[in-house]
Amino acid sequence: MQKKYLQCLDSRHLWHPYTNINTFEKSNFPIIKSANGIYLYDVDGKSIIDGISSWWCVNFGHSHPKLINAIKNQTEILQHSILGGISHPNAIKLSEELAKIAPQGLNHSFFAGDGSSATEAALKIALQYWQNIGADNKNKFICLENGYHGDTLGAVSVGYIDKFHKNFRSILSKAYRAKSPRCTECRYKKRPSDCNAQCFDSMEKLILKHHSQIAGVIVEPLCQGAAGINIYPKIYLQKLQKLCDKYNLLLIADEIAVGFARTGKMFACEHAGITPDLLLLGKGLTGGYLPMSAVMATDKVYNSFRCDESKDKTFYHGHTFTGNPITSALALAAIALYKELNILDEIKPKTEFIRKEIEEIGKDISNSHPRSLGMIGAIELDEQHGGNIRAKELCKYALKSGLFIRPLGSVIYLWPPLTSTIEELDRMFHILKKSIQKTK
Ligand SMILES: Cc1ncc(COP(=O)(O)O)c(C=O)c1O
Repeated sequence: MQKKYLQCLDSRHLWHPYTNINTFEKSNFPIIKSANGIYLYDVDGKSIIDGISSWWCVNFGHSHPKLINAIKNQTEILQHSILGGISHPNAIKLSEELAKIAPQGLNHSFFAGDGSSATEAALKIALQYWQNIGADNKNKFICLENGYHGDTLGAVSVGYIDKFHKNFRSILSKAYRAKSPRCTECRYKKRPSDCNAQCFDSMEKLILKHHSQIAGVIVEPLCQGAAGINIYPKIYLQKLQKLCDKYNLLLIADEIAVGFARTGKMFACEHAGITPDLLLLGKGLTGGYLPMSAVMATDKVYNSFRCDESKDKTFYHGHTFTGNPITSALALAAIALYKELNILDEIKPKTEFIRKEIEEIGKDISNSHPRSLGMIGAIELDEQHGGNIRAKELCKYALKSGLFIRPLGSVIYLWPPLTSTIEELDRMFHILKKSIQKTK
């Protein structure tokens, strides 16, 4: 079908997420017909580099044969079978594999459909945990300002970003919000060399004041993604775990975006050497080809759900496609691939390359706060001087030049497939730099 015709149909019937209808309709937007490795192919034959791994998930790039085969093979055997009351081998094996690779002690997996539904499940697990052990008053959460844990209402209650969520404010549940660690504009004017996460004081105050009613603290470890790739130090997490332990609060680590090697370790919590009570996974869990998420829980949390004669402690929560056999087979293949590729060693030189390139770009743009973590690199365009508008223009120019990226406010970033080669990363940076020059 002609591209123009598809674009016309699209504008008439398709509602796109996080997309301004007016400007989108007027643009010559790509329509992707196929993809391979880092490349997306438009219906008109143009190739476009996927600089954000299709919303931070296609960690092995597109069309990886092992992942495709996992889907194909499983499709012929068992397409769906519920997990309520019965089980199937793929979900069993997957929960075992996850327990092996996750920070020690997270032995139990509850599967859900996407990241947001994992957040919902985790919040409910945390709330019910306290009721299971007879502390019904612990029913509030502490989170970070500008955190993001998904777009469903429970997730928005603990992960509010004003621009995205202000229209739903009236029905959100109350949560306590600590000031985010903001290394790019440190409140204490510290540098990495003398930083002791002094900014943790905001979180500390909230915990000291409200701990008796707090069920859990939820954070995106090391990097608040949607907030604008806000990277912060591991000491913050270490302090948080200590205080959660001291005041008996559940620590919930949302690694939906940063899990599975993105930060240079399999899980971001490993940088800090911490084990949360609940760990949220999604996106890269399946290599990004099918939706699946997981809430991993410690024995302490899981065992509290064992019923006794006096109380039904069943977790009355589930999704039709929880632990679907095909997505489970895919996730198993993805985990095997992370291991087979020795992914942490594999990405090491690339993380260094990204760090250097981002630093280099940072030197050319004042106040750009260059930052990187593993396979993520970001710079900021000065908000006071039209950074948001320039960021949009820059992304438009990049797309014309063959690189698909999306701005987060005034922040421009790359979140490439982990399997991108240095040459491919170089190509991405080349287009990025050209786009920066063109939009000066
Ligand atoms: C940290 C984090 N949590 C949760 C989510 C929600 O995941 P999903 O979009 O699959 O619902 C996202 C999505 O970007 C995320 O970055």
